[in-house]
Amino acid sequence: MATSGKVIKCRAAVAWAVGKPLSVEEVEVAPPKAGEVRVKVVATGICHTDQHVLEGLFPSADFPLIPGHEGAGIVESVGEGVTSVKQGDKVILLCLPQCGKCSFCLNPESNYCRKTHFSESQSVLPDKTSRFTCKGKMIHHFLWVSTFAEYTVIPEYAVAKLDAAAPLDKVCLFGCAFSTGYGAAINTAKVKPGSTCAVFGVGGVGLPVVMGCKAAGASRIIAIDINKDKLAKAKELGATDCICPRDFKKPMQEVITEMTGHGVDYAFEVIGHEDTMIAALASCNMNTGICVMIGELPSGSMISIDPMLLLTGRTWKGCLVGGWKMRDCIPNLVSSCLEKKVNLDLLITHRLPFAKVNEGFELLRAGKSIRTVLLF
Ligand code: APR
Ligand code: ZN
Ligand code: ZN
Repeated sequence: MATSGKVIKCRAAVAWAVGKPLSVEEVEVAPPKAGEVRVKVVATGICHTDQHVLEGLFPSADFPLIPGHEGAGIVESVGEGVTSVKQGDKVILLCLPQCGKCSFCLNPESNYCRKTHFSESQSVLPDKTSRFTCKGKMIHHFLWVSTFAEYTVIPEYAVAKLDAAAPLDKVCLFGCAFSTGYGAAINTAKVKPGSTCAVFGVGGVGLPVVMGCKAAGASRIIAIDINKDKLAKAKELGATDCICPRDFKKPMQEVITEMTGHGVDYAFEVIGHEDTMIAALASCNMNTGICVMIGELPSGSMISIDPMLLLTGRTWKGCLVGGWKMRDCIPNLVSSCLEKKVNLDLLITHRLPFAKVNEGFELLRAGKSIRTVLLF
């Protein structure tokens, strides 16, 4: 490709400071170094976590930065030593890498890799430098993905190669929302056929939880959301009962316990509030109930619970991006989507040209969108 080995000038949405809207700028993107790939991003979803980043609530996000972590694209060029992908391959950019070498990657039970921001900075690439500059200033990466840029550079072990037929404008959702929600039901809770589930929050991530519970054969799926439009979507995707907390005086855990007799088998928190995290835990059956936390609290938050909730036998757990080993599993998940086993169309409510990125955030904040996909 004519651009290979050269600096590319392209558009990106830069977050210059906390609390400021994104600014669409011309940026320079340096070529990939050894072990890295440069990807032309084709489509990217807007996730609640990006909103957290803009508000300064995400740990380890260094400003100025280019956010975005739910993207798919085409490999433009590869650095020295890259063997698993080549120019022209379709890929999903992974906000959770899989280096394949660390002790966590080698553990078949875990999908966590030590090359994440919990262990080392993903605000710069592994050689501690950035590939982005704008107006002479260095711009940070975000989780190495930075999909709000027309071109981005990322380590080889943080991309998953897709089937050449994959529709990138849809499968970008496998970068976060879909994989996170669906996997929380399938891998983390391991929902059993005939079971009862409760999903607190049925937005972009919660709806895929509903889809996962349904695919696993749950016989009752209770969706809980303050937004009735989202509840209607949940019903279309398989929820059997839809409840709005504003229609009740009692706390949700009491309502759900009454509805089910002794609580649900599995509860999921997909909102990111302390009170709904506790309500989800208390909504599960005190004997064998499993509660999975997916929603994120602002960094540094603490939560306190009555230990009796756990003492009697409930399990409280969490997962990152649905527990999938990303490079191994995501291409298969995408293929099953292609075989029409998974319907993404109900999740993508808006498509906008990239320049309207701030409008996309407005839709998210106003509760009007499930997912807005930005197209370059
Ligand atoms: N009770 C019930 N539902 C609520 C409440 C509440 N108190 N507050 C908000 N909600 C609903 C919203 O109406 C919305 O439908 O929770 C849903 C959240 O969905 P989105 O805004 O689409 O956010 P999403 O991208 O799904 O992320 C949810 O998961 O990955 C994390 O960081 C992410 O914490 C966030 C959570
Ligand atoms: Zn690893
Ligand atoms: Zn996300």
